[in-house]
Amino acid sequence: MTLFNVYPLFDVTPEKAEDVFVYDQNNIKYLDLYGGHAVISIGHSHPEYVKNISEQVSKMGFYSNSIQNPLQTELANKIGELSGCPNYELFLCNSGAEANENALKLASFHTNKSKVIAFKNGFHGRTSAAVAATDNPKLIAPINAQQDVELIELGNTVAVEKALQKGDVCAVIIECIQGVGGLDECTTEFYKALDNLTKKYNTVLIADEVQSGFGRTGDFFAFQKHNITPDIISMAKGMGNGFPVGGILIHPNIKASFGLLGTTFGGNHLACVASTTVLDVIKQEALMQNAHEISHYFIKEAQSIPQVKTIKGRGLMLGLEFDFPIAELRKALIFKHHIFTGSSKNPNLLRILPPLTIKKQHIDLCIEALKSELK
Ligand SMILES: Cc1ncc(COP(=O)(O)O)c(C=O)c1O
Repeated sequence: MTLFNVYPLFDVTPEKAEDVFVYDQNNIKYLDLYGGHAVISIGHSHPEYVKNISEQVSKMGFYSNSIQNPLQTELANKIGELSGCPNYELFLCNSGAEANENALKLASFHTNKSKVIAFKNGFHGRTSAAVAATDNPKLIAPINAQQDVELIELGNTVAVEKALQKGDVCAVIIECIQGVGGLDECTTEFYKALDNLTKKYNTVLIADEVQSGFGRTGDFFAFQKHNITPDIISMAKGMGNGFPVGGILIHPNIKASFGLLGTTFGGNHLACVASTTVLDVIKQEALMQNAHEISHYFIKEAQSIPQVKTIKGRGLMLGLEFDFPIAELRKALIFKHHIFTGSSKNPNLLRILPPLTIKKQHIDLCIEALKSELK
């Protein structure tokens, strides 16, 4: 049997990984400034993570959501504590798209409305309602196109209010920093206006923190810089450091009832242990502080490269914008310098999404490689 060929692949076969490095079958060492697409938060194969997951799987890997699972409560308490959002409630699922799908569905249940407002260049995943709110027609199959979504320019408060005035909008979904779209972020004034408008028009504000959450920007959530109160916060990627886990945090204004949401695998024992360990390590190793410090260092060093036109993003969710397409540069970084980086919808933007454990000496390797390629 062959694989359904949907991914253009680089010819690299990682076999093991440790902290910020991955190693291929010939033991060639690659610096991971991509984090498997912003997934690796506490570093590859962190010893505490390996130990805790191994111990849990040897006791019990899974049981369904029909029994008591204190690991879920422990995870909820730890997210509440570290995120600074202790009064929200947690629903667990398995991926980013699923988190947004549940967020949108819950918004629709809560408001009894069905239209969604999303933003141009946004990405929210590939399931039905999530992909309909994603600004990429190539990803939207006819079955998804039945959703009623209005895509608005980031920053256009007037258009948002006009759409909300019709009274049929259940949710406004937004990435505070666009990931796949290319690291654009709007002003605090805009996010505050969204917060106010959604409250005024009985609409649910969903902060998609799938990529930016769990400390990646140096704050626990990217929206926190703007001091707003989303009704639902969606999370995934960094939450499990590679173990598939997603979730939504739900403001107490939205009430639960039996059967409203549900999943077989969401919140399983292994996923809970993976995510609880991630939170413990972020706290013990002060990784949000590290994200801030290394970010400043990276930005300062990258500013010394004349070909870099703009530096976008925050924390360890960064983008270097050039005035030429970066595809060849990215290949040279992988195959000549053994450094993984990311791309985005913007062909001129190189994305930097390393594990939050990264240190200055690793940034130096990247800057040297960029300088040698661009000289
Ligand atoms: C902001 C954002 N939302 C949602 C998703 C979808 O997550 P997943 O691929 O886990 O379904 C992604 C994935 O890149 C993302 O960046």
